[in-house]
Amino acid sequence: MVSNRGPERRVLIKFGGNALSGEGDLERFGEDLASLIAAGIRPVLVHGGGPEISEEMERRGLRVEKISGLRVTDAAALEVADEVLARINSRIVSALAREGVAAVGLSGCDAAVIASKMPSVTVAGEGGKETSVDLGRVGDVSGVDPKRLEALMSEGKVPVIYPICASPDGTRYNVNADTVAAHVARAAGAPEMVLVTDVPGILKDGQVVRSITLRRIDELIADGTITGGMVPKVEACRTALLNGARTVYMLNGKEPRSLVRKLLREEDVGTKITAG
Ligand SMILES: Nc1ncnc2c1ncn2[C@@H]1O[C@H](COP(=O)(O)OP(=O)(O)O)[C@@H](O)[C@H]1O
Ligand SMILES: [Mg+2]
Repeated sequence: MVSNRGPERRVLIKFGGNALSGEGDLERFGEDLASLIAAGIRPVLVHGGGPEISEEMERRGLRVEKISGLRVTDAAALEVADEVLARINSRIVSALAREGVAAVGLSGCDAAVIASKMPSVTVAGEGGKETSVDLGRVGDVSGVDPKRLEALMSEGKVPVIYPICASPDGTRYNVNADTVAAHVARAAGAPEMVLVTDVPGILKDGQVVRSITLRRIDELIADGTITGGMVPKVEACRTALLNGARTVYMLNGKEPRSLVRKLLREEDVGTKITAG
């Protein structure tokens, strides 16, 4: 059955770098988006670019390091991230244009996503001793001015945002794309958020967890089931739900037509995250 929730069904769709870097991934994604739009969905897109940023950093002899799923970012790494993400962004906008979708590429700075420096994170060091680590030019989101997004959407354009954001004094920060997605969802008035990644959802003991509450997520972080890039991802789900999102899903971008199957046919794919 095709859902019909009217022409203004806004959905924030975020996809990770891994979900779009394979052969044919971009084309498939463009087709899926065109199908969603034809069915009345108004998407707002946010994307990352993790693997390509790491590759380019290595090519330039920069050290790749992630802590709690976040990339340690010095000034040189920030330039690489900005360049690589802008390149991926224009590739996505072109792929969408080929499907007849009028998309507009924007950095978080252009989209008025306001960043602030991420506080140091505490990590367990040698012998379990805790140390505090400064992640450098890594940002968190302190707010979004919705005017720019609203203007684009009212013209029928699809915003495509990459997560380089600036603080009010103009300092640029590298922000995790899931974090940006959670805040943009609210600013864009999208009560649904889908995080498209390279795994079929939250995995536990090799199985996809179909539905999970925030409290259960805390347990899975504490027991080491949820690690790495999945940590900021579930935290973004928490932010979105606490900010009033109605539905939050994780899906595998490698699974054919997973977005269409979830959003239009309401099939039981991926993980549904609930405030519980
Ligand atoms: N419990 C878990 N379930 C699924 N993936 C997990 C889990 N714990 C850690 N991960 C890792 O999180 C990754 C997804 O995060 P990330 O690499 O940042 O992807 P994206 O580019 O989509 O943001 C998965 O590829 C997987 O390696
Ligand atoms: Mg990630």
